Formats: sequence, structure tokens, C-alpha cells
Amino acid sequence: MVAFTGAGISEESGIPTYRDTNGLWTKYDPSKYASIDYFLQDPSYYWHFFREVRYPLLFESAQPNPGHLALADLERTGKLRCVITQNIDGLHQEAGSTRVIELHGNTRIIRCLECSKEFTAEKVYEMTETRIPPLCTDCGGLLKPAVVFFGEQLPQDAVHDAYAEAEACDLFLVVGSSLVVYPAAHIPVRAKECGARLVIINKEPTVMDTLADAVLNAKAGTTLPQIIATPAPQRNTPKT
Ligand code: APR
Repeated sequence: MVAFTGAGISEESGIPTYRDTNGLWTKYDPSKYASIDYFLQDPSYYWHFFREVRYPLLFESAQPNPGHLALADLERTGKLRCVITQNIDGLHQEAGSTRVIELHGNTRIIRCLECSKEFTAEKVYEMTETRIPPLCTDCGGLLKPAVVFFGEQLPQDAVHDAYAEAEACDLFLVVGSSLVVYPAAHIPVRAKECGARLVIINKEPTVMDTLADAVLNAKAGTTLPQIIATPAPQRNTPKT
């Protein structure tokens, strides 16, 4: 089994999703706050957003919820090969998942665009107290989080690994994603093309429900632990 997660699995950890009623993109224009072109034109926009929204949400309060922990349990018991995530919050790793493929990068690392020097998010948050946009302490270059902005390439090694896992798995479990952002959203399609069963656990219907073998419109934090706790149906062994 391979899990594919989106912002919905972190919603019960207090991190807003993007496209729900109160999602981030209903308040902040992604073409300004998450686009590489706009970032290079006016980086202060993003860094004010980082300071007022991103950092407090991600680093001060977010903890893994039972949905993250359930996937980590499935990995521990050998039932789950890996988690392919669109999320940048690092909560799968904090929950104990060890094979996590981050398609959209993460906010833990912040790099200088000139000399590639790396900074922690905590350090850069401190730097934004006195200067926005924060600049590299070595070369004065612009800093950018290791998150994939709209208009940027996804990390090729992550994409390659995600496709390899999707093409080889028996069951592809989507949790908490609207499945509208490509190329990530093509990965469940590829799993299905290669013979996997597709299960979608999402609070609301998605555009891929007709492709799925099973759809559960429910919250990840309650559903996943219940699925784990339910003993697998006994295969009825043919009578000899
Ligand atoms: N349990 C299960 N599903 C949930 C929950 C929950 N507790 N809360 C919300 N959801 C569902 C919503 O119904 C929604 O369909 O999670 C989905 C989240 O969808 P999006 O907000 O579009 O997030 P996501 O699919 O991860 O977005 C993909 O878009 O902006 C980019 O890079 C960003 O990685 C992100 C990508």
C-alpha cells in the first residue's frame, strides 16, 4: 500500500487547507504568495506572509494528528511502503513515518538563491524581525524556503520515486487532497493505470471519485485509526 496525502490530513492539526471554505488560497492570492515569478519580483510579499501566517501555523502549534500517526503505524507493521505527500509541514516525519516523498518540498530548510547556504526556519524567522526580505549572512543573496512555488519544477528525484512506488503498489490510498494540482494529481491516475486499487479518503467529493474503487467522505483523523483497528476480513478458504 502507498499513501498519497494533501493538506486535508493536516487540517486536524490546525493547519488550514488551501481550497476549503476557509482555505489559505481563499484569503491569500497564490499568484502572489506562492508563485516564483512574483517572489523574485517582490520577495517581501512572501516573507510578510511567512512571518504572519506560515511560521506561526507550521512551527509553533502544529502537531501530528491521529491520521498521521495511523499512517506511521501502517508503515511500522509493514503494510505501507511509503507516504507520497504534497504537504510541506513535515508532520508525517514527526509522526514517525520514515519513507516520506515530499513532492512540494518542505518549509524546514531555507536556502540562499545565490550560494545555497542553508538556514533553519527558526533562524530566518528571527532574521525577519529586523529585515524583510531576509538576506544570506554569507553573500547577501535572497533567501527562499525549499518549497516548490507555482511555476517551479518539482524535485525530480521525488517525482521519480513517487511514480516508481505508484506503478508498483497494490493499493493507492489518497488522503485529504482535492486532486486538482498537477503534476502531483497525475500520480494516483498512474497507480490506477498500473493495476492498483484506488481508495480516496476525503472530507468532500473529489474530481477523481469516479476513478476510485472506494471513496470515504470522512475526516482522516477519525477514519484512518478506525481502518487500522478493523481486523482484515478473513479470506474464506475454499472447503477441501
Ligand atoms: N480529513 C480529510 N479530508 C479533509 C479534511 C480532513 N480533516 N479537511 C479537509 N479535507 C479535504 C478537503 O475537502 C479538500 O478536498 O482535503 C482537501 C484539501 O484540498 P486542498 O486544499 O486543495 O489541498 P491539496 O489537495 O493538498 O492541494 C494541493 O495545491 O496550493 C497547492 O502546493 C499546494 O500542495 C498543495 C497543492
